[in-house]
Amino acid sequence: LDNGLARTPPMGFNDWNAFGCNVSEALIKQTADFFVSSGMKAAGYEYVNIDDCWMTHQRDANGRLVPDPIKFPDGIKGTADYVHSLGLKVGIYEDAGTATCAGYPGSLGHEQTDAQSFADWGVDYLKYDNCNNNGSATKQQYIDRYTAMRDALAATGRPIVYSICEWGVNQPWTWAGDVGNLWRTTGDISDNWNSLKSIVNQNAPLWPDAHPGAWNDPDMLEIGNGGMTDTEYRSHFSLWAEMAAPLLVGTDLRKATPATMAIYLNKDVIAVDQDPLGAQGRVISNDGTHLTFAKALANGDVAVAMFNEGDSAATMSTTAAQAGLGKSHGAYTMTDLWSKRTTESAGQISANVAPHATAMYRVSADRNWDTFAPATSVSVSTP
Ligand code: GLA
Repeated sequence: LDNGLARTPPMGFNDWNAFGCNVSEALIKQTADFFVSSGMKAAGYEYVNIDDCWMTHQRDANGRLVPDPIKFPDGIKGTADYVHSLGLKVGIYEDAGTATCAGYPGSLGHEQTDAQSFADWGVDYLKYDNCNNNGSATKQQYIDRYTAMRDALAATGRPIVYSICEWGVNQPWTWAGDVGNLWRTTGDISDNWNSLKSIVNQNAPLWPDAHPGAWNDPDMLEIGNGGMTDTEYRSHFSLWAEMAAPLLVGTDLRKATPATMAIYLNKDVIAVDQDPLGAQGRVISNDGTHLTFAKALANGDVAVAMFNEGDSAATMSTTAAQAGLGKSHGAYTMTDLWSKRTTESAGQISANVAPHATAMYRVSADRNWDTFAPATSVSVSTP
């Protein structure tokens, strides 16, 4: 959606994966505090997002949504003011149906009123879900329901990132580019290896449809929630970055281990996700168990990710040419984005990839060769 927002994939936090309905003002404020104190804000994490269950079961006399006064004693406005005071942004959740997935009032038919509430409260991001949608099932009905909220948000004049959460139904990647800033491509993620694998395989082929302001959303991150190994969580983070997916932390950061924090704070992997070219990594080979991706980057480098879904170690290989790199006069430089080791290559890109792991490299061609032209003379001094 060309609303000037989400020119790179959104980064932040959402409470749902770790807390379900137990969202609260305290949690949102503490997470915002932690973003600042832990270096996450400096690393680019910006949106602190509230998911379902933030409101009461009844609209007020004016038809407006009412924040739960026990969970949010200062309301969404007070919570947003606090988050903004830290230089961060705040997100909220609603639903394009008669009720949210957890049964709270939905926005269908109330789009203007609700968008105005969000704007009045200072909301910067809306995740808009698809439960209880009155049996509306055709693609056009989907487009209509999601377009109604897009227009209502625009009419408020407040910049609000618009996240379409309809689980990939009716192939949003074919129509949502002008409707939302991101769209879910799959059902809900859960904190286990089979879920991760299945989501990667559904989202990976959709690379041609992502671009700045319009992203495929394979759902929020489970890193740190305990259902996968650190190797699997590193794959999770690597692949989300390679697929230019939103990086929305889905764990209780107040209890995160150093291993979890090291994943969320890997600046080189984040830089791949946030690269301004905004290309989703394209799948350059896939034998059903071993997937290799190449993501073009703004400075001409390519991020190569080699994902081993199998249960035994595998040597995975591609070449600079297959990855889309230009000719190099010297060697290609490959930086492993997890070990930080740098190696030189004549064009072969190979790695021994442990089971369930992802090898991730930033590969650069030697671009300086042609431009290195000493003006007149070169003086060489020998000791
Ligand atoms: C749906 C969404 C989830 C979450 C829940 C909340 O399942 O896909 O991400 O927002 O609703 O009820």
